Amino acid sequence: MPYAHITGWGMSVPEPVLTNDDISKMVETNDEWIRERTGIRERRIARASDFPSTLAVEASFKALEVAGLAPGELDLIICSTSTPEYLFPATACLIQDQLGATKAGAFDLLAACTGFIFAMNMAAQSIRSGAIKNALVIGTETLSRFVNWQDRGTCILFGDGAGAFVLQARDIPGGVLSAVMHSDGSGGDLLSLPGGGSRYPATEATVREGKHLIQMDGKGVFRFATKVMASATEEALQLAGLKKEDIRWIVPHQANSRIIEAAARGLKLPMERFIVNLERFGNTSTASIPIATVEAIEKGRFAPGDKIVFVGFGGGLTWGALVAEWTGPSAGPHKIHPRRQRLWARIRSIFHRLERFLEGVIWGRRA
Ligand SMILES: CC(C)(COP(=O)(O)OP(=O)(O)OC[C@H]1O[C@@H](n2cnc3c(N)ncnc32)[C@H](O)[C@@H]1OP(=O)(O)O)[C@@H](O)C(=O)NCCC(=O)NCCS
Repeated sequence: MPYAHITGWGMSVPEPVLTNDDISKMVETNDEWIRERTGIRERRIARASDFPSTLAVEASFKALEVAGLAPGELDLIICSTSTPEYLFPATACLIQDQLGATKAGAFDLLAACTGFIFAMNMAAQSIRSGAIKNALVIGTETLSRFVNWQDRGTCILFGDGAGAFVLQARDIPGGVLSAVMHSDGSGGDLLSLPGGGSRYPATEATVREGKHLIQMDGKGVFRFATKVMASATEEALQLAGLKKEDIRWIVPHQANSRIIEAAARGLKLPMERFIVNLERFGNTSTASIPIATVEAIEKGRFAPGDKIVFVGFGGGLTWGALVAEWTGPSAGPHKIHPRRQRLWARIRSIFHRLERFLEGVIWGRRA
């Protein structure tokens, strides 16, 4: 049975920075309160030209470069996002087209901030079953487009960004060792975005009522998160046959430093074992785990053989954890040239559109 190794990683965040001081000019709050209650100092906000797919494509090319894998070799693309560009087509398909990943099946997965864990597990299981060899797992968000910038309880928390992992089949043991996934729909109202779906299709009234904006019971989410982070970690460790002492790093969902501290207390592990970068990015939902991972790698923190736990929670409610043995760089044979590859994908895309247009003309004449 093949093992699912993490062989590539990349991240992309928009350039514009929104500081706590900037927010204090929009709502009644201040830098000290936000830092004390959340640990967040600043976050990145998408420019008009940034979309979940464009951020994801940048992160994905970086991940493919690290893995030395050409887009055409991908079998599967899972895009985890709570801020898709459209209800359909899936954002994953937009990414597939922009990457030129001609062989890959692509779909979106919506499990809010836990999405990246669920997506990694799905990709790893597909590899472990022998059904596929190469997968791209993406977490990407432009939450700023759904934040109520007049609600000081939520607008201080969220930021935009994307992260991507390449998962590949290898014969040597390692990679994803175990994963647990949980949901409890009875808590769906704690964190929701009710407008724009088929229950509340967008109308003037839904927009007036702010149904297209993030709604959250902050305290309720806080209580839920502090309960499940430690239990999910312990469960995934048990499934992998590992003990807490075997774990080198924990990469938690970056929502709030107090939630991470509570998880550390629950697990009786020192905070030094936790990767935390929410100070500079805020909560980027499903992108937060891969972004924190990429930064940790760039700082040289992960070494091959390290056992790492990825653990997340979020709307749904959803929560889960995944244990992996770090593989380290193991670049494949392909040198990736993102600019060239991107241009090639664009030409291919235009060609296919033209082909479909001409097909339409020919069929029209026949009819
Ligand atoms: C949102 C959150 C930071 C609020 O912190 P809190 O300690 O629970 O604060 P409360 O909501 O109880 O509010 C306490 C007081 O601060 C006020 N307050 C809320 N937001 C504020 C802000 N940005 N600045 C200043 N004061 C604020 C409240 O109005 C309240 O005032 P009151 O006591 O006069 O009524 C916190 O609940 C949280 O982080 N929850 C988890 C959210 C999360 O992670 N969501 C994503 C999950 S993936």
